[in-house]
Parts: sequence; structure tokens; C-alpha cells
Amino acid sequence: MTNDAATAAATKTRQVVLSGMQPTGQLHLGNLEGALRNWVRLQDQYDMYCCIVDWHSLTADFDKTEGMQDRIVQMAIDYLAAGLDPDKCSVFVQSQVKEHAELHLLLSMVTPVPWLERMPTYKDKRDNLGLDSYGFLGYPVLQAADILIYRAHLVPVGKDQERHIIFARDLAGRFNHLYGADVFPLPEPKFTEFPEIPGTDGRKMSKSYGNDIRVADSPEETAEKLRKMFTDPQKLRRNDPGRPEICPVFKLHRLYSPEALTVEVERTCRTGELGCVDCKKSLTGHVNAALAEVRERRTAWAKRPDDVWDLLQAGAGRARVRAGETMAMVRCAMSLA
Ligand code: TRP
Ligand code: SF4
Repeated sequence: MTNDAATAAATKTRQVVLSGMQPTGQLHLGNLEGALRNWVRLQDQYDMYCCIVDWHSLTADFDKTEGMQDRIVQMAIDYLAAGLDPDKCSVFVQSQVKEHAELHLLLSMVTPVPWLERMPTYKDKRDNLGLDSYGFLGYPVLQAADILIYRAHLVPVGKDQERHIIFARDLAGRFNHLYGADVFPLPEPKFTEFPEIPGTDGRKMSKSYGNDIRVADSPEETAEKLRKMFTDPQKLRRNDPGRPEICPVFKLHRLYSPEALTVEVERTCRTGELGCVDCKKSLTGHVNAALAEVRERRTAWAKRPDDVWDLLQAGAGRARVRAGETMAMVRCAMSLA
């Protein structure tokens, strides 16, 4: 076998990984540490598809489509900055691979509505955001289509997505059973191990809370955000003893600072020797150092948005090949043309 043929054969037998994110625009440290760095590790071992799910964002924001193209490209730039390599994994936009929509339609025929009505995310968002569209009810069916169209084995996601992946798995099993075919492997969630990143107000880091530190932020902006970060509210003056266990700044030290510094911070915070201003300053250096390489790549890609779009096109082209194979199998199983 030639080298190329060997690589091709190895690629063929590799397990398939699919993951997706809604195009929210610029990503923050929670997205980077919690998802992207994990994806970057997986791209070497798996046949990997990273999808920007713009159709999903319409389930909530159907009336806020302005700026969508920019949010997509900003996110793609962050993917590349994090180290996703377009030669190793297919990065693409969901709406550029129409097969997702065809599979969504066919899966919707075999999806019992009660399965959808009992999804916790459905009840929650219906009641809290007042969402009531047909498409929103079908959110998990579309997500299942994203996964199953690549006959994916593994789906790296956060714990909050567990029910969606189980849903996709159940739907895959139902399809295989109904049509007497083994079209779909049963996908498994692959949870991220990384601890939750606190935002500057101590709540979970989230764009919608406005408490995030972005990959795209400069080191100065990062320093400024950390300077204003919440600490132990009982530590008002420098010499007051603090409680690192409840302090979000300390959580970040644990994630970003060297062990020796973390131990020292913990001790001197408790005794009151360390003030919050200095504590944050020492953290800032380590956070910025951890982001330096990613930010450098980001700056380079941000100057070439046209090339980023070309990469997304190419990624969609490769995704379409696998998705097309799956649709041929699905149509055959269902006796469709
Ligand atoms: N529901 C996912 C989220 O909100 C996004 C998503 C859509 C997804 N399709 C997917 C995640 C397929 C993994 C696989 O984060
Ligand atoms: Fe938090 Fe550091 Fe202040 Fe202690 S010294 S309360 S760990 S910011």
C-alpha cells in the first residue's frame, strides 16, 4: 500500500466525531477551555466534523438574524485560533449542507411528539423565553440530524447537552428498528472534563450575562476585566482575611497559575497578607500567557476573513460527501427516490 492509500484506509476506519455550537460570535474562555481545546485534541484521532449550527440559532432568534454572517465568521476565527486545523477536521456551517434539513424532515416523521414535549430544555425555554414555534419544538430532531447525518459515534459536549444526545441515540435506534437497517451507529456523548469557568461576577461565564473574558480581548482588556472581578465580599480591606474557597478569582488561579503560586495565594489570602489587587495582578499574567498563542493566531486570521469563508466552503464540501452517503442509505432504507 502506498502511504496515501494507507492514510486513506486509516481515515475510513476511524470513528466519527461531530460537534456543534450556535453562532454566538466571539467565544470566551469557557468555550475555549470547556469545548474547543478538547476538540483540538480529538482532531488527531478521529474523523472530525465541527459544525456552526446557524439554523439552531433561529429557534430562539428568528427575528434577530442581522449580523449572523459576522457572528459565524467570528466564531470560525476563534475555532482556527484555538488550533482546529482545517486539514484535519471539517469546519463548516450547517446551512451550507442541505442534507441536514432533508434528514431532519425524515426523522420528524418518526419522532413521537411526547418525546419532544418532555425534554427539559423545551419546557424551560418555552416558559422562560416564551418560545412556541414548531421549529423550536423540533430543536432536538435537528440536533439529532446534525449528528446522524455523519453517522457519528461520539459527540463531545457539556453535561447540559446529555438529554439531547440520548434523544439522538433513541431516535437512531428507532429508525434502525423501523426500517430494518443498520444505517446509524448509536451516538455517545463524550463529556468535557474541564471544570466550569467562573465569569467576572462569579456566575458561570456566559456571553448573555456580560461577565465573559473573550479570546478576542487584548491582554489590557483582560487585565481590566480581572481588575473588576468579584472576590470574597467579606474581604473589604487588604488586611482582612479572605476565603479563597468562595472566591472566583481563586478559581481562576487554580486553573491558570502554577501550583506553587496557587498554594501561596491560598495561604496569604487566608492570613490577610495578600490583597485582592495584587492577587488579581499575579493572575492576569498567567491568564494572558495561557492565551498568548491562541490570540496571536486569532489576530492573523482576523485579517483574512475571505480565506476563512473559503475554508468554511471547503469544509462544507467535505461534510457533504459523508452526508450524501448517509442520505443515500436513508432513502434506500425508507424506499424513497
Ligand atoms: N444544542 C447544542 C448547544 O446548544 C448545539 C448543537 C446543535 C449541537 N447541533 C449539535 C451540539 C450537534 C452537538 C452536536 O450547545
Ligand atoms: Fe480572592 Fe485573591 Fe482576594 Fe483572596 S486575595 S479574596 S483569593 S482575590
